[in-house]
Amino acid sequence: MIQNNVNLLDLNTFGIGVLAKHFSRFESVEKLKLLLENQSKEEILILGGGSNILFTKDFNGIVLKNEIKGFKTIEEHKDDVVVESGAGENWHEFVLKCIDNNFCGLENLSLIPGSVGASPMQNIGAYGVEIKDVFEKLSAYHIPSGEIHEFNHSQCEFGYRESVFKRKLKGQYVILNVSFRLSKKSKINSSYGAIESELKKMRIINPSIKDISNAVIAIRSSKLPNPKLIGNAGSFFKNPVVDRMILNEIQKNYEDVPFYATDHDDKVKLPAGWLIEKAGWKGKTFEHYGVHKMQALVLVNYGNANGNEILELSNQIINDINQKFGVTLEREVNIL
Ligand code: FAD
Ligand code: EPU
Repeated sequence: MIQNNVNLLDLNTFGIGVLAKHFSRFESVEKLKLLLENQSKEEILILGGGSNILFTKDFNGIVLKNEIKGFKTIEEHKDDVVVESGAGENWHEFVLKCIDNNFCGLENLSLIPGSVGASPMQNIGAYGVEIKDVFEKLSAYHIPSGEIHEFNHSQCEFGYRESVFKRKLKGQYVILNVSFRLSKKSKINSSYGAIESELKKMRIINPSIKDISNAVIAIRSSKLPNPKLIGNAGSFFKNPVVDRMILNEIQKNYEDVPFYATDHDDKVKLPAGWLIEKAGWKGKTFEHYGVHKMQALVLVNYGNANGNEILELSNQIINDINQKFGVTLEREVNIL
């Protein structure tokens, strides 16, 4: 049941070959319970699709890969439904299943790699939608007590690429299933500029949720490297939220710097990809790793890079952006 010294190369989208001292898969909470009860007090890593992790060393503990499946409608109303998915379902396949059932709300999140269970961890988001917009509840196994706890929306403390599971409750819970409240009425969200222009290109005037999904897939495929071909974990850094004064400073040299409003008048969000490109890093390659040529926010492994090389590159970028713009970038990817 538990394997020793397992190479995780094919289990993380960065394609980093490190060893897990112990490794097992679990398809049910019963199996998870058994595995946790029988293991000595070693470090535990719950693994989904491995698409938001950079391994920098062998993992000297037990890696448990979540394979809990399931898709069911647990509530049905006139205008909406609540759909529950097993945490080990593939996120994109889950989104497509919702679209096939005409359940609206997740189509803008098409093609995000990884598992359903990891989606609340950093409140995944793209193209104007975050899961917090449709999240209903989740169940999670509390590792210290062996109890199953339910979390509603406010208990998850969602923020931009944030949740309580990344902060206060880090390492304490295994998410078992996640439920979303989805609309039965087609509510299109094409406010994100790139979606509008992609729909125009596709000559679509009254888009369905399937059309929105196809537009998002087309945009993503044109910018983001496919991890099956080039190792990466999506955006390596978060987009920084900074004081308006910093924006004003940057505007002295770059009038056209893009920025987004936040809930606070005195703060704006800056696109880290723009900062990294302006600092000259976009497309830079160092033997077998570098900064992607289409999206400067994505660090890539072209072959046999090790995690420390990529981590060191991220440190250099953080220092350089700090010096050039007075902005401190924070990593989005989990470093292990
Ligand atoms: P993993 O990488 O396996 O795990 C991530 C973290 O969550 C780890 O700390 C792990 O221990 C923990 N974890 C995983 N599952 C569980 C569980 N069931 N219970 C408790 N803890 C768990 N993200 C976005 O938000 N928006 C994007 O647009 C986006 N685009 C991407 C594009 C590409 C090409 C790639 C490679 C990544 C992208 N990402 C994006 C990041 C990534 O897809 C998400 O963070 C995703 O939710 C990670 O899922 P995973 O199952 O692979 O998690
Ligand atoms: N930009 C550049 N150069 C670049 C990249 C971007 O100038 O190399 C500029 C763009 O021109 C645009 C702005 O930066 O003006 C934003 O770019 P984009 O729309 O590509 O989005 P992003 O801010 O780089 C964020 C998320 C992505 C998500 C997309 C779409 C973060 C950290 N990243 O990227 O999420 O898919 O928006 O909504 O918030 C992820 O989290 O892993 C991820 C891929």
